[in-house]
Amino acid sequence: MVFEKYAQYYDLLYQEKDYQGESNYVMSLLSKFKPEAEKLLEFGSGSGIHARILANAGFKVYGIEKSQQMIDLGEVSNAEIDNKENFSIKKGDCTNTYIDNDFDAVISLFHVFSYQTSDDSVIGMLKNAYRQLKKGGVLIFDFWYAPAVWTIGPTLKVKRVQNDEISITRIAEPKCSKPKNIVEVNYQTFIKNRSCGKISEIKETHVMRAFNINEIVQFAKECGFVLLLSEEWITGNQPCDQTWGVCSILQKK
Ligand SMILES: C[S@@+](CC[C@H](N)C(=O)[O-])C[C@H]1O[C@@H](n2cnc3c(N)ncnc32)[C@H](O)[C@@H]1O
Repeated sequence: MVFEKYAQYYDLLYQEKDYQGESNYVMSLLSKFKPEAEKLLEFGSGSGIHARILANAGFKVYGIEKSQQMIDLGEVSNAEIDNKENFSIKKGDCTNTYIDNDFDAVISLFHVFSYQTSDDSVIGMLKNAYRQLKKGGVLIFDFWYAPAVWTIGPTLKVKRVQNDEISITRIAEPKCSKPKNIVEVNYQTFIKNRSCGKISEIKETHVMRAFNINEIVQFAKECGFVLLLSEEWITGNQPCDQTWGVCSILQKK
């Protein structure tokens, strides 16, 4: 299972990620495409940082997350921005977990869509969003954009982060299957206790799928959505072969 042992280090590994800026971007998309939105469902909410920022901005937010470790991490490391009145989370798979049928928007952020590697799981996720959205509701999600993934090419990457207690070195080694648009990212993570020097190691493989826009259009159509927009995540630029992360917005017909 992914996001198990590795999960406890997630917020430290992504401490530089601009969750506030990303949440502002999502709010700008909501105000453009669903200005009356109040009730949001987040698929793959992880440690719940976007969800808590949106809850604190006044949205009623429900998360669905399949890793209990990610949910637990969020309770501890994001306690200072918690909002029990406006944010709750249910453990489950976003391809089939049901909460309610009156959401204004479903959001799914930071490549959760690309973790759905089979056609069945992509369709499951879209159909599960469809049945929980109000008519006219929107689904906002980002994914790995195939033209850029195969132009830039996944490469071996090393990331180093630390806090007062531990230092982490994470090696990400990709194994690619271009015909299937699949990249297996093998993460080898070394955690060093800074006071005693003891080093532990965690290995996890994350299998990611890259998509073309025409596939998104086909999947959307099959599940009762229309594609409103695809743009570069955050910048809003036209996707090109250098755009690794694309954001699409679908609307329930
Ligand atoms: C890269 S993390 C992103 C977490 C969070 N959205 C963020 O931006 O920090 C991907 C998350 O998606 C979750 N996930 C992937 N597939 C899922 C599924 N089918 N159902 C529920 N959660 C899923 C993983 O457990 C993980 O927490």
